[in-house]
This record gives sequence, C-alpha cells and structure tokens, in this order.
Amino acid sequence: MDRERFEKRLRTEYFGQTLIRYEETDSTNIRAKAAAKNGAPDGAVVTAQRQTAGRGRRGRQWDSPAGKNIYMTIILRPDMEPDKAPMLTLLTACAAVRAVERACRIRGSIKWPNDIVLNGKKICGILTEMNIKDRRTEFVIVGIGVNCNQMEFPEELRQKATSLKRECGKDIEREELACLLLEELEGLYEIFEREQSLAFIKEEYEARLVNYRQRVCVLEPGGEWKGTAQGITETGELIVKDGTTGEIKTVSSGEVSVRGIYGYI
Ligand code: BTN
Repeated sequence: MDRERFEKRLRTEYFGQTLIRYEETDSTNIRAKAAAKNGAPDGAVVTAQRQTAGRGRRGRQWDSPAGKNIYMTIILRPDMEPDKAPMLTLLTACAAVRAVERACRIRGSIKWPNDIVLNGKKICGILTEMNIKDRRTEFVIVGIGVNCNQMEFPEELRQKATSLKRECGKDIEREELACLLLEELEGLYEIFEREQSLAFIKEEYEARLVNYRQRVCVLEPGGEWKGTAQGITETGELIVKDGTTGEIKTVSSGEVSVRGIYGYI
C-alpha cells in the first residue's frame, strides 16, 4: 500500500486519517491491538504489504503473500456494550461488498457472517477482535484481508479462494479499494453507533446473502444439523429453520459456522 496514493484517494473524516504502515509484519491485527493499547485514535488503520503470521477466524492462518493484496486493520473505539461488537463484522462485510462493486463493477455476495464471495469463491475475510475493560468495550479491531491481484493460490485453497483480478480480469489498485472500503464503513458505522442495531442494513445484507433461503449445514461445538437459512436478525444472528423439527432457530457467529450442503457455499 503506497502512503501517498492512499492519502490522495481517502475521502473520510477520520477512518484512515491515521495510517500505520508496515512493509512486513506478523499480523496487522496484532499490530493494531498494540497501537490501540498505546492510544491510537478511533479510526486509525494499520496496513502491511506482507504478513508472516496472518490470522483467520477459528485459529486458521491467512495466506498473506507480499504486495498483492490488502491486509488492513481498523481500530474502533465504539461507545457500546461488548455484546454488540460482533455486529461490526457484518457491517464491515456490507462496506466491503459495496467497495468491491464501486471499484470493480462486479456484484459480490456475502456468506454469513462475513466472507465476501465472487462466483462461489472467497475473496475477502474479516476477523474482529475486541478488548474489554471494566465491562466496557475498550476498543475493537476489525481486520480485513482482500485478495486483489494474487493469481496463484496454494493447492489447499484453490477450490475455495479467488482474487478480484482473477474474477474481473484487471489489475486492482489496492489503495483505491481500501479507501472506498473505509469511506463506506465510516458512513455505516456512524449510523450503527447511533442505532446500535443492524436493522437499517438488514435488507441490503439479506439481498447479498449467498445462503439466503438455501439449505445450510450448521456446525456447532456439540454437533451439526441441517436447515434452511431465512435471513438475519437485527443483531446479526443467522435465522435457520431446522430441517428435521421445523423449528426456527437463531445462530450466532461466535459459536457456529455454516456451510452449504455440498461444500463451502
Ligand atoms: C477469515 O478467516 O475469513 C478472516 C481473515 C482475516 C484476515 C485479515 S488480513 C488483515 C488482518 N490481519 C490478520 O492477521 N488477519 C486479518
């Protein structure tokens, strides 16, 4: 990420106005956490050209080759209860899908809760972490990885991952996409901070949801079950009608993951 190009394209009030940029680091989430503890302001952004210990959800690794993709973490200091913070992940997914559409003229989908998918494969993942102090949210960090110009993927990811360049055939300017994402997220975040609910974005989110009205397999710590996704609640849980009992259940992203019946989607 080039600082000058980034600053030239940035149209936000405070998201990204403080930029901490690394050529190489372990993980921008780790760096962001350290920066937040040292007092980095609300909206500060950490980026890296390459991560040596990029982290995914559920303890997975995030493949982070040099100079091709976006590895970016935003520091937020929302005035909200810790249990509301996971909603920021869904909000970020909406911002990311909007930004991809603006930058590449391609309509992406969301796999609940926060993967951005193009043509059935993942191009973006989001990892939200938070710090709680005296039972209040001290800060939240939202890490975003977008596969932009990577053309080759390791064997084990080939079925599941792709990049914007692979899907739309042109080079992606990472600074532009990152700035559009920050601009979209800043707008959504302002409303979200006020309303502390996803009601205002629920319709848009559901319209993008690949799982919408689809059969899904819910993987819970205690076992798995199948049902049909019916949408999301105003707090971001997935609503699933149990295929065996017909019961309507809600599942939250911290506890479970969801797969399609035949594979990733
Ligand atoms: C996922 O598993 O889908 C979440 C992936 C999140 C990857 C991003 S890349 C920037 C930030 N730093 C990390 O170590 N992880 C996130």
